[in-house]
Amino acid sequence: MCGIVGYIGSRDATPIISAGLKRLEYRGYDSAGLAVIENRHIEVRRDAGKLSRLEALLAEQPIHGPIGIGHTRWATHGEPSARNAHPHLGAKGDVVVVHNGIVENFAALKEELAAEGAVFRSDTDTEVIVHLVERYLDAGADLPSAARQAIRLLKGAHGIVLLSSREPDKIVAARVGNAGGVVIGVGDGEMFVASDIPAILEHTRRMAFLESGQVAIIRRDGFDVTTLDGKPLDVEVHNVAWDPVAAEKGEYTHFMLKEIHEQVRSITDTIGDRVDFPAGRIVLPTLALTAEAAQRIRRIIITACGTAAHAGMVGKILIERIARVPVEVDIASEFRYRDPLVDDETVVLAISQSGETADTLAAMEEGRRRGATLWSIVNVLGSQAMRLADGTITMQVGPEIGVASTKAFTAPLVDLYMLAILLADLRRAPGETERRRMVADLRRLPDLVSNCLDRAPAVESVARALKDASHCLYLGRGIQMPIAYEGALKLKEISYIHAEAYPAGEMKHGPIALVDKTMPIVALAPKDPWYEKTISQVEQAKARGGVVVAVATDGDELLPRLADLILWVPETPWRLSPVTTVIPLQLLAYQIAVMRGADVDQPRNLAKSVTVE
Ligand code: BG6
Repeated sequence: MCGIVGYIGSRDATPIISAGLKRLEYRGYDSAGLAVIENRHIEVRRDAGKLSRLEALLAEQPIHGPIGIGHTRWATHGEPSARNAHPHLGAKGDVVVVHNGIVENFAALKEELAAEGAVFRSDTDTEVIVHLVERYLDAGADLPSAARQAIRLLKGAHGIVLLSSREPDKIVAARVGNAGGVVIGVGDGEMFVASDIPAILEHTRRMAFLESGQVAIIRRDGFDVTTLDGKPLDVEVHNVAWDPVAAEKGEYTHFMLKEIHEQVRSITDTIGDRVDFPAGRIVLPTLALTAEAAQRIRRIIITACGTAAHAGMVGKILIERIARVPVEVDIASEFRYRDPLVDDETVVLAISQSGETADTLAAMEEGRRRGATLWSIVNVLGSQAMRLADGTITMQVGPEIGVASTKAFTAPLVDLYMLAILLADLRRAPGETERRRMVADLRRLPDLVSNCLDRAPAVESVARALKDASHCLYLGRGIQMPIAYEGALKLKEISYIHAEAYPAGEMKHGPIALVDKTMPIVALAPKDPWYEKTISQVEQAKARGGVVVAVATDGDELLPRLADLILWVPETPWRLSPVTTVIPLQLLAYQIAVMRGADVDQPRNLAKSVTVE
């Protein structure tokens, strides 16, 4: 996934675009570039590495103009370097393009264009686009039509933005398939385009979201949208409720730490007005679920990637236990190619913070093709996963910038808890009284989360003990098994320590062979229905000389005698306990990464959500 920003208006585009790219750097940060048109001439500046390198270059060799586009890259084709950075200029220097996605047939197009005399100056797939547009401009087409003709030849999914000094009064932007969003921002006498909301939020809240197969022609005073064949379309302009400050770090050193500490507010917002506490009922209007439809559901397939998939694993236990509906969790990149057994009594529930992860979107389309009802739990408003679904539950946590997801993990845990209760009510499942109490438990959750966050200093000493480890094993049972996976993922993502998670009961069937003084074990052992069983695993590990860090519930007298180090959490109703047990693991990974000097917000090789296969 890359970040794209464009501007057309009367102000200088350069500072607006580089500030916007800064807000999108979580999408890719291995090279960056910017192009502006001034006096019908295109100037380009590009460099490898972080955006700060481009900013330094722009300070040395400034460029200015009322129209421009910029890009921050997550390389797929062509190593991160200045010559492979976007924007890519055409042969005559009067057309320039930035791109998100992969041109799957670029090799064939490159050959064809080279035979026509085109000279390629990069190893990227993207460069074929600018040569194609140039071909059609030279044949007499205007910029929008040249762009449409070129884009129709491309295979794969794309977010494309381009401009030309032949027509310096417009920017052309297009979306094909699922390669990340294309958002158009409506200003007063100026317009913006970006691949995500935070980049332009400080300038406007009036935004339109391009669907797949749409092309926008953006001028200073407005925009038009057509299909790839040129047929005009009406596109709605939404008012986005996020506040720009939320996309800032504030007093925190890292976005990840800020987002960990935002979880009291984000959990409160996730609950929001979706719980009728006096009636003890859950209200999820955007899911649009009737009792009749709820009773027709024979099974639910949760599909997602990364952290979102771990939330799905908790969702399976909650929905099966509370609503008694069979649930399978399927990693999206597997689901889409597995010829899955899906029918019209199946719900495919996709979970995605960004709502733009290509594998998850493709899994949704696979479900659609096979007749399933599509639901999604998403955070980014207007994202594709929101638009593809028949019903949606939003996370309501505001922008999440840190690449390692935190508040967008605890939010879907609460969404899934609420969904399970609503489903059970609509299906008149037994256990009404218990459900009323479960609804009431939600009222306590923000305080329990606040209580966990107050213990951040205590996590530091555990982090210090583990920071030099090369390997780490996370163990959990039942509803804590997914939390073991999430804890291990957090440590991997930002500290680069090899961390593995295992269902605790499985340890004796293999990984116990790894246990010795050099392999710390993090065991999730709060007071829940799986507590006793987990204690046996802790004892097995200790018996082999393992170093055990246990996540334990306040007042537990046994674990301090068994484990070497304890991460204490407050007593929490077990169905909500994943929300409190994951927080010390988020903090642990964060503190270890900081102690190891890692780049926490932009870990190597990762991106906030991956919009290519
Ligand atoms: C990865 C991110 O690229 O995508 C993870 O680094 C994330 O943090 C995963 O969990 C899935 O993203 P999303 O947006 O679909 O939840």
